[in-house]
Amino acid sequence: MRRLAHDGVLVVGAGLAGLSAALAAAPRKVLVLSEAPLNRGCSSAWAQGGMAAALSEGDSAAQHAADTVAAGSGLVDPAMARILTEEGPAAVRALAALGAPFDRTAQGGFAQSLEAAHSRPRVARVKGDQAGAAIMDAVAVAMLAAPHIEVRTDHRLRGLLQDAAGRVRGVVVEQEGALVEITASATILATGGIGGLYAVTTTPAELRGEGLGLAALAGAVIADPEFVQFHPTAIDIGRDPAPLATEALRGEGAVLVDASGAHFMARYHPDAELAPRDVVARAIHAEREAGRGAFLDAREAVGAAFPEEFPAVFAACLAAAIDPRTQPIPVAPACHYHMGGVATDADGRTSLTGLYAAGECASTGVHGANRLASNSLLEAAVFGARAGRAAASEAQPEPGRMGRIVAPQLPEPALQSLRRAMSRGAGVVRSAEGLRRLLDDIHRLEAVHGRAPALVAARMVAACALARTENRGGHFRSDAAEGDAIARRTFVRWSDVVAADAWKFAAE
Ligand code: SIN
Repeated sequence: MRRLAHDGVLVVGAGLAGLSAALAAAPRKVLVLSEAPLNRGCSSAWAQGGMAAALSEGDSAAQHAADTVAAGSGLVDPAMARILTEEGPAAVRALAALGAPFDRTAQGGFAQSLEAAHSRPRVARVKGDQAGAAIMDAVAVAMLAAPHIEVRTDHRLRGLLQDAAGRVRGVVVEQEGALVEITASATILATGGIGGLYAVTTTPAELRGEGLGLAALAGAVIADPEFVQFHPTAIDIGRDPAPLATEALRGEGAVLVDASGAHFMARYHPDAELAPRDVVARAIHAEREAGRGAFLDAREAVGAAFPEEFPAVFAACLAAAIDPRTQPIPVAPACHYHMGGVATDADGRTSLTGLYAAGECASTGVHGANRLASNSLLEAAVFGARAGRAAASEAQPEPGRMGRIVAPQLPEPALQSLRRAMSRGAGVVRSAEGLRRLLDDIHRLEAVHGRAPALVAARMVAACALARTENRGGHFRSDAAEGDAIARRTFVRWSDVVAADAWKFAAE
């Protein structure tokens, strides 16, 4: 196996969290590794909504934090929400200074739009639905110009290097079919979420919880893995991944109707289309299950302005022969965001020395059980930069003996079978029976293919969803007991999941 010693910080993943970490680690040397070419294969570049931040007069970080806490159904860590919202405006301004072309008001301020569960318009957007792509273009240009950063694409994360004391000392990557060990003073996982574990997802399909699975196998504490956010309005045109119809459309007044054209959201929540995302996702799920169908009707709210105001949604619809200026858009809930992840402190430190995590693969506690819309790019920028600064201060450890965790890969047919099982068992509506069936499926796949990171991540989600017998935020059980009086986050190690599973399976 080839070996490479990097004297500095390793960042695995090139979404907004990874690149923010890399930029902030200056002047320390940073090596960024990505499987996909830059700005491909990362959710950040696909984000449509924008970045939530208290940028307008009359708004405040405290109000943004209060909305974040309220959306998270009792599980948001208020100290983390305070950091996110207080550092948010500066993070947006810093991205604007790098060249991200946020929409502006006539006075030159940031134009702010409304999304669900925000108490006021607060989302800084770029040309309607172009925020993610435009921000990532600006950040990638800055990163390529930064002398302390080297980027290598076509490097796929396959494992972690760990010394006898448990310190993470680097990674094992696959490049052109060969495994390469890369050691470093600190490793930041910014590997994204788990959308690719679900049959219907709005995220790049290659995001399958690899970072989370490997960190779990290395013994890291994982937080809240059962909390998965389903976006209510993926465009239901049979594409994988499913294109998104941004929530900003509902912010502009688009309405949800069934196949007969009847509005249905008022039956589910007083805030109707602008109810929390989990409520809207379940309403759409219920309408579809009842055979009535679900469509987003933006004819009146957006109409002729569609190509100009929402070019990505417009293009996706036209490609499926739907003209959203004159036709309602068929929609379905899809896996969109993982609130759970590798547990970190406010500076991205995980429970394993030398290992940091940022962005969707991390769980800072800022999203609780249900992420507030457009807080994810913000979290990636704010906490990515914090992780980069902290990791840069890690000294190069003494050379020593290391073990390596290189997990097997899941072959494509097995992955597709896992995706279907996850959507069935750990989707918008869950039950003990469905989750047990899912765990059986995962066990069967594991018996044949070994502990692939995708299976480890899936099992963390399923086992913790089974253990959480209440309804909270994005986690909804049709067989739920009363909600727990005291909201508690999940903190769990892989060994706990294996032990609990063994006990449960032995008992049945
Ligand atoms: C959207 O544009 O609807 C998604 C925004 C988000 O996930 O925060």
